[in-house]
Amino acid sequence: MRVLLTGAAGFIGSRIDLRLAERGHEVVRLDAYLPMAHGPGARDAAPADVHLLDLRDATEAQLDAVLGGIDVVCHQAAMVGNGVDAQDLPDYAAHNDLGTARLLAAMARVGVDRLVLASSMVVYGDGRYDCPEHGDVPPAVRREDDLAAGRFDPRCPVCGGDVTWRRVTEDAPIRPRTSYAASKIAQEYFADAWCTLQSGRAVALRYHNVYGPGMPADTPYSGVAAIFRSALERGEAPRVFEDGRQVRDFVHVDDVALANALAVETVAGHPVGVTPYNVASGRPFTIGDMARVLSRAVDGPEPVVTGDARVFDVRHVLASPDKAAEGLGFRAEIAPEDGIARLATDPLRRR
Ligand code: UD1
Repeated sequence: MRVLLTGAAGFIGSRIDLRLAERGHEVVRLDAYLPMAHGPGARDAAPADVHLLDLRDATEAQLDAVLGGIDVVCHQAAMVGNGVDAQDLPDYAAHNDLGTARLLAAMARVGVDRLVLASSMVVYGDGRYDCPEHGDVPPAVRREDDLAAGRFDPRCPVCGGDVTWRRVTEDAPIRPRTSYAASKIAQEYFADAWCTLQSGRAVALRYHNVYGPGMPADTPYSGVAAIFRSALERGEAPRVFEDGRQVRDFVHVDDVALANALAVETVAGHPVGVTPYNVASGRPFTIGDMARVLSRAVDGPEPVVTGDARVFDVRHVLASPDKAAEGLGFRAEIAPEDGIARLATDPLRRR
């Protein structure tokens, strides 16, 4: 198939590029080479076979031209991270939502009716919990006095009692908590509108915590695995927030690339509309354990548990990987303990 890959030069996009080519697809690459992600001079040094376009301001003629003869669009171009403060809101909206809307409008003009969209587990907010008395509940926002007293687990919103986490399935309620999360769910909603108008088919891949070679090194927008890895490189101990028992699902970038290739190949067999899938290893890992595995792999200093808590952080987000196994034939191949140990020495991307 001929696939337009946006964000082709990014951490995830570049691994999807390899995987699609390996599976015999023809990849047409588009990337804006944003200085924020690639450094100030990167645009001038970009490879000649990449369409250097920013979806926010590319002309209609430019977008229509790159879409010529395309079977499927695999849309990875995005501004990532949790956001630093409210001043980030317009940039998330412009890159992720205006950019996607312009891409979808161009697909409609040219007649491309299949889309694979990079979405995120952040659309679920603080995951899913069970209260022994009130069943399946959204967790209450964590109270400042609880956090200050070292109680990091959320409470039942009805009785204030203890809750236990459960895996999120794709039908879990949508509760974006950050600018980034809002922009990712808006992408899914724009794609859904496009599907209705164009009889389009889209698969939204809700990535959990992606890590692996080529991860951007320590920036204000980096995920925790890169932050810990960069600290170890400087000979410093990883600084683990809360009590280190917060849980995530770490999924290797090569597994994410595989999920994308499978989605590209199967999106035509999906119903009209957006079908979301969790892209996850299905193997819970605490942040404290992740720091320890990384540290041990390089004989580095023991992680320090700081007790700090960030207001926007969620406590536990675990995915059910079952729907992706059924609908895409995707099962993560790399166990987090192996991939994370390798991350200790994997090359990182530097701006
Ligand atoms: C991360 C990404 C988010 C992405 C999501 C799913 C970032 C900043 N966040 O969200 O964009 O959509 O995965 O792929 O890229 N922590 C520490 N020490 C630190 C930094 C963080 O202990 O120095 C802890 C945090 O308190 C949190 C956990 O690590 O509990 C994960 O943090 P982080 O990687 O920033 O964000 P996620 O919410 O997991």
